[in-house]
Amino acid sequence: MGKTVLVIGGGGREHAIVDALSRSSQVSKIYCAPGNAGIGEQAFNVPLKDTDVNGLLEFAYSHKVDLTVVGPEAALSAGIVDAFRAHGLAIFGHTAAATAIESSKEFAKKLMAKYGIPTASYKAFSDYEEALAYVSGRPFPAVLKYDGLAAGKGVVIAANLKEADSALRSMLLDKSFGLGRVVVEDFLQGPEFSFLCFVNGADVYPMPLSQDHKRAFDGDKGPNTGGMGAYTGLPFITEEDKVFALENIMKKAASAMVSEGLPLSGVLYGGLMKTPDGIKVIEFNARFGDPETEVVLPLLESDIFDIFYGIATGSAIKTPKWSSDVTLGVVLASNGYPGSYKKGFEIRGLDSINCQVYHMGTSIKQGSPLHLSDMDPYNRSEWCNGSIVTSGGRVLMVVARGTDLATARDQVYREIAKIDCDNLFYRNDIAHVAFE
Ligand code: AMP
Ligand code: GLY
Repeated sequence: MGKTVLVIGGGGREHAIVDALSRSSQVSKIYCAPGNAGIGEQAFNVPLKDTDVNGLLEFAYSHKVDLTVVGPEAALSAGIVDAFRAHGLAIFGHTAAATAIESSKEFAKKLMAKYGIPTASYKAFSDYEEALAYVSGRPFPAVLKYDGLAAGKGVVIAANLKEADSALRSMLLDKSFGLGRVVVEDFLQGPEFSFLCFVNGADVYPMPLSQDHKRAFDGDKGPNTGGMGAYTGLPFITEEDKVFALENIMKKAASAMVSEGLPLSGVLYGGLMKTPDGIKVIEFNARFGDPETEVVLPLLESDIFDIFYGIATGSAIKTPKWSSDVTLGVVLASNGYPGSYKKGFEIRGLDSINCQVYHMGTSIKQGSPLHLSDMDPYNRSEWCNGSIVTSGGRVLMVVARGTDLATARDQVYREIAKIDCDNLFYRNDIAHVAFE
């Protein structure tokens, strides 16, 4: 009997996970909650929110799901792994307590200090006056991090005291983020990169390194976004760097979590920086990155079901095998993103694209607009016939692979030109570091 898998989430990351699962000979049915238009072509979309733990638990039970795979951190923080395990269901992802490695900056900083994992030195504050006095006596720019999940808006790099003051006021006095604690840390410099690893307790299995592009526009200009493109095959990282990051950062962090009684059982994502003083941690995430997953998972040559299921059940897994190809992916986002943007623009031309397209924020429109929650997950024609429309800030990611980055880049931009939609923009310089 083939296995039934439920994937939680509905962005490009989850599309890449569904795509990898669909390559497994063991998997016969994939559900995705809530999914999106592209995912709907490869899986059954289920109209449940990623944080609806009880609804998802009931669904997994009643649909005889053999394995659940969690994409977003919000679902992990909501305790989905704890709830599924308590009911004897196999689920890939960390417990809510272990997710603190991402959700609490102070937890992560303390862990790194205790176990000698290289990172910027820091001090944490809950009092505005104390924090301001500390920052006043230190060099600028100052890095201020709100302690808690803040949807990517919790980090301020203040150029001077005025900027620092206004950030500290909003974080500690206005309580605009909720909890009211701030980590102040040294400003580091150097290229950033993402190191995603499968972690099974103390066992760490590295994935290919990748680099995200956080700014909205070419030349790394404009506001910070969730990520406008990514690639593998980083030109500025040596084999020695990779070994250092694996041994002294990722493996140390996994063992540290075991020692703390919070073993990891999913993906650990090191947001790392190659500084003049060596590689240091900027942040840890407790999940696959987005858009990094879309360039990393296409390179996996092993069966991803074995990896997910082994880790979900705490059993040993075989070391995953990866292609030596490289990948490059470009995000197409709605005009206005990361600020406000309109939805519902029709996307044409996807059928003629000769490389991978992952959907990040799309839905289906048939005559009158349909919301995901109105769709029948079992009616395949609903998902395969209507027209595809934009429904998010980041909408599509086009990914090409090749033996070198120039080939992948040329293909991606050639294929993107075939996409016809009135409201999308993208960066023209993804992987520019590799071509300078
Ligand atoms: P984080 O949410 O901690 O990843 O921070 C978001 C972004 O802020 C990072 O991707 C970096 O570009 C920047 N950043 C965070 N911490 C530092 C630091 N200590 N020095 C320089 N830049 C930083
Ligand atoms: N690519 C950034 C993130 O997934 O957090």
